[in-house]
Amino acid sequence: MIRSDEIRQVVREHYAGGTATGCCADTDCCGGTAEEGLQGFIGPSLGCGSPLAYAALQSGETVVDLGSGAGGDVLRAAQLVGPTGRAIGVDMTPEMIWKARQNARRLDVTNAEFRLGEIEHLPLSEASADVIISNCVINLVPDKALAFSEAFRALRPGGRLAVSDMVTAGLLPPSVRADPATWAACIAGAVDLDDYLAMIRAAGFERVETVTSTPGTPGQVFSATVRAIKPPA
Ligand SMILES: C[S@@+](CC[C@H](N)C(=O)[O-])C[C@H]1O[C@@H](n2cnc3c(N)ncnc32)[C@H](O)[C@@H]1O
Repeated sequence: MIRSDEIRQVVREHYAGGTATGCCADTDCCGGTAEEGLQGFIGPSLGCGSPLAYAALQSGETVVDLGSGAGGDVLRAAQLVGPTGRAIGVDMTPEMIWKARQNARRLDVTNAEFRLGEIEHLPLSEASADVIISNCVINLVPDKALAFSEAFRALRPGGRLAVSDMVTAGLLPPSVRADPATWAACIAGAVDLDDYLAMIRAAGFERVETVTSTPGTPGQVFSATVRAIKPPA
């Protein structure tokens, strides 16, 4: 059994490196990710889906990206919500926060900000976000239930969650789950899709649904995008 702090350390070291590969580097199990309209963005893009395609962002909204990496989804979200809206990225790796801020400067995006922090302890006040997105991150988190309950706390009543992630159909072999290196590669921490949806419901979300996924083969990881809402007050 690997300890949570060990996993966090391995994941942080992986994404701090200049050559970090994402969850889809060696596989064709991911949906496409998109940075169209982000001219000048120098990446890296390490996602495994397009949560923004299912977030239905409106002008003026506040969007938060859990595990924002180099900021591609945050910068795109900032464009979509316009000058009266805001996009906030949260990431636990200082090197990623630095890259994201550099990308924001290059693209001259002024309504985006990046905060250093863990998504299990979000640096956000209660009910402060209209929309929360995440792209290929929660699989890397040892306590996924805590991450979803933090997302629930930070969303306003009626707010929306759209998450792309690596999941499984059934359980992965214990030898795979016990290997710290396969956590950083988005394999060991992936959980069964039904269990993933159940964790989101247990955090308090409603209308939890899978909106798209790549084909799921037992014993292998695949990408799914899930949407849910926090019940209105
Ligand atoms: C696979 S990359 C995805 C980055 C980005 N979402 C994208 O689509 O390019 C995973 C990111 O999640 C961050 N991360 C992993 N675990 C985290 C945690 N517990 N809290 C905050 N960030 C985390 C890593 O530092 C890394 O930047």
